[in-house]
Amino acid sequence: MKQVTLHQLKVFEAAARHGSFTRAAEELFLTQPSISMQVKQLSKSVGMPLFEQVGKRLYLTDAGKELLTLSRDIFDRLSQFEMTVANLKGLKQGQLRIAAVTTAKYVIPRLLGPFCHRYPGIDVSLQVVNHEVLLERLQNNEDDLYILSQPPIATDLVCHQFLENPLVVMASADHPLAQEQNIPLQRLNGEAFIMREPGSGTRHAVQELFDKHKIKVKVRLVLGNNEAIKQAIVGGLGISVLSRHVLALEGANRQLTILDVEGFPITRHWYVIYPASKQLSVVAQTFFDYLIDEGKTIAETTDALKITSN
Ligand code: PGA
Repeated sequence: MKQVTLHQLKVFEAAARHGSFTRAAEELFLTQPSISMQVKQLSKSVGMPLFEQVGKRLYLTDAGKELLTLSRDIFDRLSQFEMTVANLKGLKQGQLRIAAVTTAKYVIPRLLGPFCHRYPGIDVSLQVVNHEVLLERLQNNEDDLYILSQPPIATDLVCHQFLENPLVVMASADHPLAQEQNIPLQRLNGEAFIMREPGSGTRHAVQELFDKHKIKVKVRLVLGNNEAIKQAIVGGLGISVLSRHVLALEGANRQLTILDVEGFPITRHWYVIYPASKQLSVVAQTFFDYLIDEGKTIAETTDALKITSN
């Protein structure tokens, strides 16, 4: 293993991530035969095959999976070291990788704005995924920080709450219930409803409330995208439950309204989390502290992020 080079590990990581030598070659501006050669040499040093091919796709062998974890650790540690050196030089710079659940995409970019102005040397990549995919990314140690509403209980995590995320019932402005107040939850029985996809944290929270009160809505459509759900509501396909933040940029001329239903808003919060065993890079620690210290204040003073009822 001592002959293994960082270049080979980088090539291997890209091939494993894409499940394809061709795509890895495109990403790294190399040729497909040179990727294949690097992986071959790496397998030789390991003494076991790293991939197996089924049809056109490559799958990692058990040794390959172990090596992928090791490679990611090595690159993590190297980039942490780079950031530490930059920090010693008085610069905050490096790569910040964040994964956030879909509804947080209405908030995190707003908070990132002032942060990136303050630290122009920090490059940010933001992955927006649903709750289930975010947990997979956490498991695979793919990002520095994770933003979600329901931190898993079982895992050993550092976890801080930083902002409110109320879930509300949204309907089109001309919905028959739009003008009513104190609508009993039971009135939602049989309502045409647009549901988020399985694996969504929003769906989980809604389902939990409905199950508890034995509410049976009529699910007309399952959609994995909050923007598409808003369009479907306006299109008259039904009501839905979404984070109030998805109305952030709706403006005054709203075609959507929030129904005043008993039991709502479902009070939730966003948390920023990372595995307790992970040593945060300087850059990730800086963003973590920023979210905790200033996230709330910025959200409260940014018009589009204010949580006001309509
Ligand atoms: P979701 O998560 O995008 O998976 O619905 C949102 C949340 O958990 O608040």
